[in-house]
Amino acid sequence: MTHAADTANISVVGLGPGDSDYLVPQAKWLIDHCEVLIGSSRQLNCFPGFCGEKRQREGSLAQLVVWLNDHCEQPIVVLASGDPMLYGIGDYLSRQLDPARLRIVPGISAAQYLFSRLALSMNDVFLTSSHGRTPDFDFVLQHAKVAMVTDQQIGPYDIAQQILARGLRRKMIVGENLSYPDERILRLAPEQVARHYAMNVVVILDER
Ligand SMILES: C[S@@+](CC[C@H](N)C(=O)[O-])C[C@H]1O[C@@H](n2cnc3c(N)ncnc32)[C@H](O)[C@@H]1O
Repeated sequence: MTHAADTANISVVGLGPGDSDYLVPQAKWLIDHCEVLIGSSRQLNCFPGFCGEKRQREGSLAQLVVWLNDHCEQPIVVLASGDPMLYGIGDYLSRQLDPARLRIVPGISAAQYLFSRLALSMNDVFLTSSHGRTPDFDFVLQHAKVAMVTDQQIGPYDIAQQILARGLRRKMIVGENLSYPDERILRLAPEQVARHYAMNVVVILDER
């Protein structure tokens, strides 16, 4: 699966939305053949049979970079949810690490998965995030089709309130726990959006 001239010992591997059926074969191969697997506890628990060292990701990303720079020889996999380069850890690591040591393996993003489940084109979508940031809603809501990955601070309810405060007519789709057995995909008017949802992606549609 890897190339002889490949100098990368660190692979940042996209896990896709969660169900391992959506993990690409190269990601599986790299996970099976690495010595150290790094991720959140939830991500590490997805690989109960892994025989090498599991390291739970804690502390800052800067601390992770220091640790990675101290381990130049071992094959290491850093797990990322969805796609590493879409509001993921791949962006930060690609700016901090020697490119010759780094391989990034794409994954299916939670947003991509949701658009496939909806059979809705992504050609004209504005992809954004409220994860750890406050979006500029005046700008975001200028777009006719938006997909937003969210977090506990700014989620579906807050997005709905932003729409209502501007008197806009929008439809919302909340994709919760995508690809997991308890997945829910809800089509809602902003007035119908509840305060709390599990891990989710929100699609906002201007269907005038
Ligand atoms: C840091 S962002 C990472 C996005 C990721 N890189 C991607 O491509 O999907 C984490 C957010 O992605 C969304 N997400 C990831 N997996 C999800 C899933 N299975 N179901 C719903 N949302 C998910 C949630 O909004 C979560 O808070």
